[in-house]
Amino acid sequence: MEHWHGAAPDSEFTHIGITPKASENSAVWLEPVTDEDYMKAVGAESMPVAVESIPQKSSSEKKNIGSVLALYPKPVTVIGTLSDGKANFMTMTHTGIIGHDRIMLSMRKSHYSNKAARETRKLSVNMVDEALLPRADYAGTVSGTNEDKSTLFEYTIGDEGMPIINDSPLVMECIVEDIYETETFDNFICKIANTYADEAIINEDGKVDYTILKPILFEMPNYQYLRTGEVLGKARTLGKK
Ligand SMILES: Cc1cc2nc3c(=O)[nH]c(=O)nc-3n(C[C@H](O)[C@H](O)[C@H](O)COP(=O)(O)O)c2cc1C
Repeated sequence: MEHWHGAAPDSEFTHIGITPKASENSAVWLEPVTDEDYMKAVGAESMPVAVESIPQKSSSEKKNIGSVLALYPKPVTVIGTLSDGKANFMTMTHTGIIGHDRIMLSMRKSHYSNKAARETRKLSVNMVDEALLPRADYAGTVSGTNEDKSTLFEYTIGDEGMPIINDSPLVMECIVEDIYETETFDNFICKIANTYADEAIINEDGKVDYTILKPILFEMPNYQYLRTGEVLGKARTLGKK
């Protein structure tokens, strides 16, 4: 089978090949991968620039580290789907906000969850606090293709028929309105149909109190989780002169 090996912009690569019975099993080494082939395979318009190869500093003395997904940290969520009566859960942090009533969820096409989300055009977005984090981490480690994750969380069925994780303090039940496809990701554009909140996280004004909920954040560059919960000041007041 023709294939290629190589480094990625953010990881090095060393290949050591051991061929048993070399007389019968010899590999045929083909031509090196060109920049053009690489760009076509990863869907990039230009070759990524290695961080080390950018010596210059901008006038503000910041180092240009190339094209980096810097919009982290992001809240950890667990996406609940239901297909043929069976629930599945996957961890997700590539989320976005669209206007005031829609969200975007970026899910790799190979995930088990995508099929159900495409079929039912519905899903749940379960916020993760510290107590839920170990199970949420696990839901992001194994795939429903290989393991039944339907009993990983206790859940209740919401008004739109989606699994609402009982131990998640705040859950949005969403309707998929559109799917914006990129090379390897389905990007689900969703309208929020219902939001279920534990009474313990609702303040006197009837709003979600994030200092009680303390959503866990995830940052991708170092692949780790962060705590939240501290108030720094009121928005549109803190900066007033
Ligand atoms: C902290 C964390 C965040 C993740 N965020 C995403 C994400 O935003 N999009 C995505 O496609 N996969 C994400 N994943 C990977 C999936 O959760 C993981 O591949 C999962 O096994 C897919 O489950 P499924 O195949 O049952 O749908 C994340 C994993 C972890 C641990």
